Amino acid sequence: MRLDRFVSETTELTRSLAKRAIMREDVWVNGKPEKRAARHLQADDQVTLNGQPLSLVGLRYVMLHKPVGVECTARRALYPRTVDLIDLPLAERLNPVGRLDVETSGLILMTDDGQWLHRVTSPKKAHPKVYLATLARPLAGDDAQAAIDAFALGVELESDEEPTRPATLELIDEHHARLTLVEGRYHQVRRMFAAIGNHVETLHRASIGPLALGELAEGRWRELTEQEVASF
Ligand code: URA
Repeated sequence: MRLDRFVSETTELTRSLAKRAIMREDVWVNGKPEKRAARHLQADDQVTLNGQPLSLVGLRYVMLHKPVGVECTARRALYPRTVDLIDLPLAERLNPVGRLDVETSGLILMTDDGQWLHRVTSPKKAHPKVYLATLARPLAGDDAQAAIDAFALGVELESDEEPTRPATLELIDEHHARLTLVEGRYHQVRRMFAAIGNHVETLHRASIGPLALGELAEGRWRELTEQEVASF
């Protein structure tokens, strides 16, 4: 790989800023300044920027227990972002796999592997996602059964052409529901409960496909194991 590309891939620098750093002799190869941006690196070349060793990071896969008040976005935002909670080098390169609303807590996956991201989110794969919702209005008796049946059939959501895909609603008690979806539309859980005249007060995602938060505390993250990555 060319030196300027290597520097930009291992830092936050764009290719042209990497070239400038090379011209300024901020970049050294094997202990000596290197001004040739086009120099081809060998596997064992040691590169530093201002004395800091640079190395290519492999593809990374992370699960985060997102707290309420954190935004799933790559751009600068009003709220703290999911990447701000991940203290890995170049965390900015990790993309959220799907989205959770700012007001929703729970499991979010993050990766810099575009193909894997696509496999997890692809509607064709239909990985189930489990949400725990607190409902403003009690849901019990015949109304509960009607909601279970309506969600199993699919509900019409305002401004969506297609009804929702069959979803499984379980009532833990009259204010607490577990909802399993196989798709991920904008504000889907909140809109589904609104469609049956209820209101979601709190929302938490417990799992995506085979991956659940387990004991991971709110605001904490961990890298996925190889088996977990391969499970999608
Ligand atoms: N459905 C919602 O309404 N919000 C989320 O964050 C996720 C699913």
